[in-house]
Amino acid sequence: MALWKLLLACLHQVDALDNGLGLLPQMGYNTWNDFECEGVSAKNISKVADKMVELGLPALGYEYLIIDDCWADHRGKDGKLVPDRNAFPHGMKHVADYVHSKGLKFGIYMDRGRWTCAGRPGSQGYEEVDAKTFVSWGADYVKTDSCNGPDSLEDPPSAAAIAQYQLFRDALNATGRPVFLALSGWHNWYSPYGESLANSWRIGYDVRNWQSAWNFAIRVNGFLSDFGGPGGWNDPDMLVGSSSKTAVQMTPQQSRTQFSLWSVMAAPLLLGSMLSMGHHDLETYTNTEVIAVDQDPLGIQGEIVWENCPLRKRTNIKQSQFYDEIPACQQVWARPITDGFAIVLLNLDAEKPANVSFAVSDVCWSSQAFVGKPCNFFEEASVRDLWRKEHLGIRKFINVTLARDGASQMFKIKPIIPQAPHTSAKKKTPASTATGHRPKSRHREPVSSHFSVALETDAVHFLQQPDEL
Ligand code: GAL
Repeated sequence: MALWKLLLACLHQVDALDNGLGLLPQMGYNTWNDFECEGVSAKNISKVADKMVELGLPALGYEYLIIDDCWADHRGKDGKLVPDRNAFPHGMKHVADYVHSKGLKFGIYMDRGRWTCAGRPGSQGYEEVDAKTFVSWGADYVKTDSCNGPDSLEDPPSAAAIAQYQLFRDALNATGRPVFLALSGWHNWYSPYGESLANSWRIGYDVRNWQSAWNFAIRVNGFLSDFGGPGGWNDPDMLVGSSSKTAVQMTPQQSRTQFSLWSVMAAPLLLGSMLSMGHHDLETYTNTEVIAVDQDPLGIQGEIVWENCPLRKRTNIKQSQFYDEIPACQQVWARPITDGFAIVLLNLDAEKPANVSFAVSDVCWSSQAFVGKPCNFFEEASVRDLWRKEHLGIRKFINVTLARDGASQMFKIKPIIPQAPHTSAKKKTPASTATGHRPKSRHREPVSSHFSVALETDAVHFLQQPDEL
């Protein structure tokens, strides 16, 4: 038996993560897209906390302020991580206390390997010490990265990686403090294991621009909707604003599209710019109707319900395809939400604008795909444009012209269900049936059966399935 199979078999008897957190995708701010390693300091964290409050972001749900890589300097003689003294002269608890005093929650970054991706000390062999240290500082959220760990990430599923994630998860559980755990393993092969390991898990490499948003998120996440839901979410990476002062950026149009798509994908909404956020991005990130889609309590991740893009085999969705050209095509994404469906129409064509006409009844595809039950067929729906904030009346079709290079439009539709001729007046239809969708049954299989699936199929790649395209 191959060593990895043996290791997977040994992992059957583990407890799942059960911290009661992540019932909705996390929202907040993370330093990485803003600062990378330049300027991660107590001073800037205080400024970010102040700005978040000034902009009213916590009231909209942006509750976590997360310090990413480049805060740790070395390990002390007692084995504990020591923050960079110049950047954090009063230590990390002091910073966490300030963040808490602003009504925000405090998050910190670590890496399960020997070194972080930026070469700071990692947690391998110190999982318990680090979990206790973070909790002693008052951490509410931990992001655990995956650089320099013992695994073979391109040869999934990596038993070594999963075992290490479990080590830290268990160490954190053992502290007794509910701490949101966000994995950053950059691969989609561990989505099926995700909910037993953490409250969210990255599905691809870093989204740094529109090209990587296509490659590592949009191209991939439509295939992963089965795995995300209340308690644990597929994470297509953080939001990239359009400020030119941050380490990474998109055009204003693309970053707005990213926000709309991420909301339909039920993705974490982690802002990547704060001190230099411009008016356009602020307007994007404070659209309460789009946030409400992301935070919809049904917690059903959206999917592609129509596209004219080249067929992609699930088996081809591999991270090693780093620089797939963005195809010149269009997609429609849909997500069942409590009172209807959210829809994003997207033009990926970099050169030309596109007209897209979409029959509202086609969202039934999404209902079938996600909920596994037929949709109550409807032809018409009341349509609201979530960016123009306008009701468009009752429509059979949504016709739009989308600008080139990542433009999109987002709508919410409420189906008009035809009255059944013989419905008894006394018989009440449950609201969820009336709108044509039902809460997804989030049947959470024990971790052991996930592993046995991998073992039985000898999974070279977990997405390989005979019935796929
Ligand atoms: C990457 C990770 C980024 C950021 C960076 C820090 O591996 O995907 O989100 O955390 O490391 O070095």
